[in-house]
Amino acid sequence: MKAYRKVDFPAAKVRRFLEPGPIVLVSSAWRGETNIMTMGWHMVMEFEPSLIGCYIWDQNHSHEMIRRSKECVINIPTLDMASVVVGIGNSTGAEIDKFAKFKLTAVRGTKVSAPLIKECYANFECKVVDASLVKRYSLFVLQVVKAHVAVSPRYPRSIHYRGDGVFMVSGRHINLRSRFRPEYL
Ligand SMILES: Cc1cc2nc3c(=O)[nH]c(=O)nc-3n(C[C@H](O)[C@H](O)[C@H](O)COP(=O)(O)O)c2cc1C
Repeated sequence: MKAYRKVDFPAAKVRRFLEPGPIVLVSSAWRGETNIMTMGWHMVMEFEPSLIGCYIWDQNHSHEMIRRSKECVINIPTLDMASVVVGIGNSTGAEIDKFAKFKLTAVRGTKVSAPLIKECYANFECKVVDASLVKRYSLFVLQVVKAHVAVSPRYPRSIHYRGDGVFMVSGRHINLRSRFRPEYL
């Protein structure tokens, strides 16, 4: 292992090192309207039930739609959708219909009224199970109530935001499964 030489770094920018979970698209529905937003700030909070914490800024149109409907879908886009992902993140559903503008197909979910995005590799139907941190931190705790995942490829080319307009593309894998405690797999 390497001994790195380090310099001071602005605390407000450490997110660039922590962010790179996959960028996701969050779709929602409320009173006949549908919407999509791009989201990088999410974290897994529990295995079972499957909980995911999501930061959804209160200035986003999606915030109000999800707060009111208490449902959404987390969709996983792949590399071929990168420019759509940025376009969705740079526009608001308060002004445009993003499904129409970005030529995406809305598919009916089974457990929530928010639509799934057909062009995405995976779709996780979610319900808001804890909204107690929404007012203070815009943090929604979601439970995945139904998941739909493409059968192939096993490891899609997901994109991971590194800040400053740069994405990392998932690539090489190493398998250390045999070293793991089974309950952590
Ligand atoms: C790469 C990227 C990552 C983003 N991550 C988040 C995020 O984690 N949380 C958030 O609230 N907004 C995030 N945004 C901003 C929203 O996607 C953006 O404000 C969007 O226009 C909101 O759409 P809406 O008003 O239709 O809800 C991100 C945007 C981009 C381009």
